[in-house]
Amino acid sequence: MQMICRYQAEYEARFQQLQARFTELNVQLEGQTVEKINARFLRLNPEMTLVLDSDGLSLAANGMKMQPDWRAEIPRLKRASLKSEMIARACQLGEKPTLIDATAGLGHDSLLMAHLGADVRLVERHPILFVLLEYSKVQAEQDSFLHSTAQRIQLIFADSNRYLSQLIEQNEQVDVVYLDPMFPQRDQNQQALKKQAQVKKQMQLLHMLLPEDGEMDLGDQLLDLAKQIAKRVIVKRPRHAVYLAEETPDHQWLGDACRFDAYFPKG
Ligand SMILES: C[S@@+](CC[C@H](N)C(=O)[O-])C[C@H]1O[C@@H](n2cnc3c(N)ncnc32)[C@H](O)[C@@H]1O
Repeated sequence: MQMICRYQAEYEARFQQLQARFTELNVQLEGQTVEKINARFLRLNPEMTLVLDSDGLSLAANGMKMQPDWRAEIPRLKRASLKSEMIARACQLGEKPTLIDATAGLGHDSLLMAHLGADVRLVERHPILFVLLEYSKVQAEQDSFLHSTAQRIQLIFADSNRYLSQLIEQNEQVDVVYLDPMFPQRDQNQQALKKQAQVKKQMQLLHMLLPEDGEMDLGDQLLDLAKQIAKRVIVKRPRHAVYLAEETPDHQWLGDACRFDAYFPKG
């Protein structure tokens, strides 16, 4: 895989570190120094690249940039409670479960789950997203509010199909496996899409990075693997989406835009 990273000259040292990290993950990162990265620059350079600037590392395309900015989630975390969050009831976060989030993405769901008490293994297979997550975790560890939450999150660079299969072979069990696989945009309920303000900028960029006919894993096989190692498997879906792997869940929690389907493999 190849990727371009644009950065201002003052970030040369950080670029070098980043390039070395990407090499370890088999990504060839080409650097381009530019004078100034601002909104105008991003508009005039719409192709997908990484950018390194005062906001840290971001993915940019079509005039937008995004990063799994965990610090921006702090107000949401401050409002969150075990009672108010549907995800907390679905994953029984009050019991401080061991949890594998097998589809990390930007890690926002896991950040919330770790904040509410879970011990999280966060698995992502896309190297660009994985390095973006590593950046966010380092920043979060330096933040006084996020520090302890970030420490309850372990990042794992792997394909979860393979990772979960290994755990099955090793007879390892966890309390919860959480799945939020990509859902094809073309299948989403159009009303719901409009409500979410263009599915949010972040999701648009994720969909560009993981095209449906290429990188996207719709996660059907993950459900069966997850059921073999967890007491509880929770699947996040858009509210009107079909069931993952066409399997009827044992229980559901319904929200306005999304729902959580629960599978209890051992009854
Ligand atoms: C919809 S996003 C998850 C969003 C996430 N819940 C959040 O809060 O940001 C799905 C992510 O799962 C990852 N993914 C899908 N299949 C995977 C697999 N088999 N192994 C590891 N990661 C996977 C994709 O690369 C993508 O980043």
